[in-house]
Amino acid sequence: MDFDRQDLGFLRQGERVTLQLRALYERCGYRKYRMGQFEEFDLYQRHKNFLKSKHIISFNDMDGRMLALKPDVTLSIAKNTHATADAAERFYYVENVYRLDDATGSFAEINQLGLEHIGKLTTSDLAGVICLAQKTLKEVSQRSRMQLSHVGFLLELISSLGIGEADRHGLIECIQQRSGHELAEKLARMGVPPAAARMLREAASLNGEFIPTMQQARALAITPGMNEVLDQLDAVYAELEKCGCQGDLMLDFSLISDIDYYSGFVFRGFVQGIARAVLAGGDYGSLLQKFGKDLSAIGFALYLSELDVPQTAETVGAEKARDMLTVALPKGRLGDQVYELFSGIGYECKAIYEDNRKLVFENAETRVRYLLVKPSDVAIYVEHGAADVGVVGKDILLDARSDVYELLDLGIGKCRLAVAARNGYVEDRDRVLRVATKFTNVTKDYYSARNREIEVIHLNGSIELAPILGLSDVIVDIVESGKTLVENDLSVLETVAPVSARLIANRSSYMFKRDEIGEIVGKLQG
Ligand code: PRP
Repeated sequence: MDFDRQDLGFLRQGERVTLQLRALYERCGYRKYRMGQFEEFDLYQRHKNFLKSKHIISFNDMDGRMLALKPDVTLSIAKNTHATADAAERFYYVENVYRLDDATGSFAEINQLGLEHIGKLTTSDLAGVICLAQKTLKEVSQRSRMQLSHVGFLLELISSLGIGEADRHGLIECIQQRSGHELAEKLARMGVPPAAARMLREAASLNGEFIPTMQQARALAITPGMNEVLDQLDAVYAELEKCGCQGDLMLDFSLISDIDYYSGFVFRGFVQGIARAVLAGGDYGSLLQKFGKDLSAIGFALYLSELDVPQTAETVGAEKARDMLTVALPKGRLGDQVYELFSGIGYECKAIYEDNRKLVFENAETRVRYLLVKPSDVAIYVEHGAADVGVVGKDILLDARSDVYELLDLGIGKCRLAVAARNGYVEDRDRVLRVATKFTNVTKDYYSARNREIEVIHLNGSIELAPILGLSDVIVDIVESGKTLVENDLSVLETVAPVSARLIANRSSYMFKRDEIGEIVGKLQG
């Protein structure tokens, strides 16, 4: 029996949605799967590559067994399923999982409502689950959209270009971030011929409504494997059309995440006004193979916790935020240059020159709204959806590890991140290296890739003082003209990374303001 929506007015959105969806899943033949909070640690240890985060909360039980607070539900279901080739199993679950949140650097309790179908699955079975994912999204909000892809399309192309396993990971990261410029640089460094590199860039950037995007993909399919993948996508789409679930579906080949987990179709759902994806899923037959089961499987999870965060679309000024494009500008010299760039392509907002302490400026005519924020906060505003796009230095972006799209290298604000020390400094490799920096994460990554043990001393400015006063051996900092180093008797030892200003976008905004963001990107490229 369906619930009368009026009777459920007192429930929070996540609770209401859970009840409605449980009723829907039961009607579709899915049964509730329940698991405890703890699992054998060994299960996750052995299948680390299938987990989003490698960090797991573990402890010893009184009998000495190593247990874990479960970071995932699908692994347990895959291990415990009794599905066979003749008898498929369908489960749904409402469970908490415990994962490291990259944005906060702390463990978070994440409430998930998920669904899994395991067995010898046909195209119609796979489409059935994607269809339920669409219905799940619509239950959350009518203003929702889903990205669909098949990881095989780009992986086939990458291997046909002779790119090995070791280089693949770096390329996939650029593809996930829609960072065409970084992808081009990496391919050039690998010595991939320009025509082949162009083809991969083009294929990776394909996204839009299903039918036209599919036509573009066909034109780029150079191997039988790629065409086979597109045939599978076509077949699933035909099934979705049959049940009327093809609306608000975007084909997007940049969706190539979690390749160890999802081996074929992959999809992700967004709701307007919520900054991060609220739903993620795909088929994970390769996990079943690891458990010795020759079966296929597909499932998804709805992140109920995401529905309870303050929703920009439902807060004051939400209508305006939906209609306007909000741009986060870094305060200061770079911000001035960026504003000039934006006003030069038609997004001017004269109020920005007024002598006051306002931080938000709007131009109703050009439908643009500028936020003036600290340079180090730009990526945070964009990642959390307070701004749709922003401009930020690559140094800050690297250090913040923000989950945003990096759409363009604007070629301004050029400098480099470098290791520097007092003139004549000689490193003592028998000692832990003391490094002063504001770029803690970049520094740790840089030295861990070189197997060098370091102690990081985090400073917020005037980093050059640290080696002078004996606070550190070296520094990792921005070098632009090099004047600050020279005047303090310091010199560069190594370059960590070149830096310039990047145009970034929120992943959800990219779905709902595609035309506006696409227009800016096009004009800036021009
Ligand atoms: C940055 C950086 C260096 C300086 C480098 O400092 O931290 O100190 O610029 O520029 P240069 O190579 O042209 O001399 P910033 O002005 O941002 O101040 P900070 O020391 O507070 O970080």
